[in-house]
Amino acid sequence: ELAMAVGAGAGTIVIDNFDDIDRLEKIVTDEQRVLIRVIPDVEADTHEAMATGHAGSKFGLSVPDAVRAAARLRASDRLRLDGVHVHVGSQLLDTAPFARAVEAIASLGELGEHAVYDLGGGLGVRYTYTDQAPTVDEYVRTLTDAARAHLPANARLIIEPGRSLVAESALTLYRAVTVKRGRPRALVAVDGGMGDNLEPMLYGQRFEATVTSRVGGGEPCDLVGRHCESGDTLIRDVPLRAPAVGDLIAVPVTGAYCYSISNNYNGARRPPVVFCHDGEARAVVRRETYEDLLRRDQ
Ligand SMILES: Cc1ncc(COP(=O)(O)O)c(C=O)c1O
Repeated sequence: ELAMAVGAGAGTIVIDNFDDIDRLEKIVTDEQRVLIRVIPDVEADTHEAMATGHAGSKFGLSVPDAVRAAARLRASDRLRLDGVHVHVGSQLLDTAPFARAVEAIASLGELGEHAVYDLGGGLGVRYTYTDQAPTVDEYVRTLTDAARAHLPANARLIIEPGRSLVAESALTLYRAVTVKRGRPRALVAVDGGMGDNLEPMLYGQRFEATVTSRVGGGEPCDLVGRHCESGDTLIRDVPLRAPAVGDLIAVPVTGAYCYSISNNYNGARRPPVVFCHDGEARAVVRRETYEDLLRRDQ
């Protein structure tokens, strides 16, 4: 991948470890700009699987190791150290850890007047009615205020927003296959589940849902998927109005980390992706077929 990045002329490559430096020095022939990924030792209030800036994180180098890596890069005739990179985690609903990360990387000392400070992604989004996510303005103000307080005046800032750009752009449409009543909560089983949305299982992410033809309110239900385990619960205790077999059930805010982590567990075929705009619909990823699933078998 590093060779592909260099071959494609990637402007800047983020180095995670000393082995990356060894590898890049062998690959690069012209000058290559690099950043060092630094562990800021910042705890972010998010699911532990999405926290990446704490002391024990597998990503990047501790501040003392980053200082050693910087010294090594300065001695390199091919790799040019342009600055540092941090990413404290994903789905952050509080902006304070972003500011603490900026302060932490400032402790690396001077990296040059126009050094690059890549502050990663992480801005959280509103999945449920009760979530309160920072606005883009609040997020950017937090970063720029912290940069003014702790970084050189001409520092160049980069951000890498992911989830916050795309999460709200998509919803997942399921078909209700089975409804079981006569239990503490009605159980509504749909024709998807952990094959197309692993966020509830991996990160405990909560979503909302509605019957598309009867929006809002209703009886408390457990929305479950088609896969062969009880962990395949999309949403526990979500209100759905008079759900019945054949209903379309919409789960909003599935534009981030759902398609990208979708899988073929139980031989489930991944659903299509359809873009809609101004009343027009266009399939941009077709529905998977059984032939697709068997394509690599020999
Ligand atoms: C290095 C890096 N930058 C940016 C992102 C995007 O984060 P988010 O989608 O939370 O904005 C990620 C996500 O894993 C990441 O690992």
